[in-house]
Amino acid sequence: MKQKLEALKIEALAKLQEVADPQALNDLRVKYLGKKGELTEVLRGMGGLSAEERPVIGQVVNDVRGAIEEIITAKQEAFQQQETQNRLQAEKVDVTLPGRSMAQGGIHPLTRVVQEIEDIFIGMGYRVAEGPEVETDYYNFEALNLPKNHPARDMQDSFYLTDDLLMRTQTSPVQIRTMQGMKGEAPVKIICPGKVFRRDDDDATHSFQFHQVEGLVIGRNIRMSDLKGTLQQFVQEMFGPHTGIRLRPSFFPFTEPSVEVDVSCFKCGGDGCRLCKQTGWLEILGAGMVHPKVLEMGGYDPAEFSGFAFGMGVERIAMLKYGIDDIRNFYNNDMSFVKQFKGV
Ligand code: PHE
Repeated sequence: MKQKLEALKIEALAKLQEVADPQALNDLRVKYLGKKGELTEVLRGMGGLSAEERPVIGQVVNDVRGAIEEIITAKQEAFQQQETQNRLQAEKVDVTLPGRSMAQGGIHPLTRVVQEIEDIFIGMGYRVAEGPEVETDYYNFEALNLPKNHPARDMQDSFYLTDDLLMRTQTSPVQIRTMQGMKGEAPVKIICPGKVFRRDDDDATHSFQFHQVEGLVIGRNIRMSDLKGTLQQFVQEMFGPHTGIRLRPSFFPFTEPSVEVDVSCFKCGGDGCRLCKQTGWLEILGAGMVHPKVLEMGGYDPAEFSGFAFGMGVERIAMLKYGIDDIRNFYNNDMSFVKQFKGV
């Protein structure tokens, strides 16, 4: 029996030595050590041994088992190491390769300017209001003190959709919508950015569609000086601390008195240059004290409340601020134009 075991050991070790893959190794393990394996088979025969022989053979069996287990473990480790090695080889990363660059977008200059304007006014306690781009004649004109056949309607050639519906020509209808929504409560402090539409032929400075930001404040004892101080603060934050403003008398049907507001040219500081056409001033917005009739239509008693409003063109401000000389650049999706504003 001892010889049989020795022969088994020699055979097993020789086969295990030559094993080429983990599957074959496992097969051999089952063949020799498994429940129905050859070593187990020998052990079964031990019942017929004498009491003296049994421990001796038992010892030999243990030795054989130990030797076989040892080589199996060694082989398993070797296979594992080989596999790790193979995987490392396969997944090798060349850290010296240049990275793949991702195309990064930028914020459109118009969005950028709107966000800047919003930030400044939100900082002064305003909230942002919105209104529809398709408006009724009532909100776009009539409630703003522009009755039908009023000559000032010609200032804003309109796209009518029906007799009563049009693409809004200005953001001022949001004034009325906001006032009516507030149901007489005060104060009202809003700005309203949005698209407006006019029947214009497109050229370097005109577009049938552009953007405005409207502002409205209603309260008790709101005066022209509040308007002036607000706009002064705004232009300093928008164009720099040395920017000044100048108010010129003007006309809008929904404000009285009305003004055009100029800022001192931030390029030349007021000395006169190409940007300001040698005048030292740049016209950027329209404004005024809310007309009593508009207050009334918005549900506020003009004897108790007063207010101011202003409106500015976003394209114009962006063009001045970034030195853009053609308004069409904003809309024609020329990547080389848009990309310039990535990091501004
Ligand atoms: N809505 C006017 C325009 O489009 C601008 C404006 C707004 C003027 C508010 C005064 C007050 O020209």
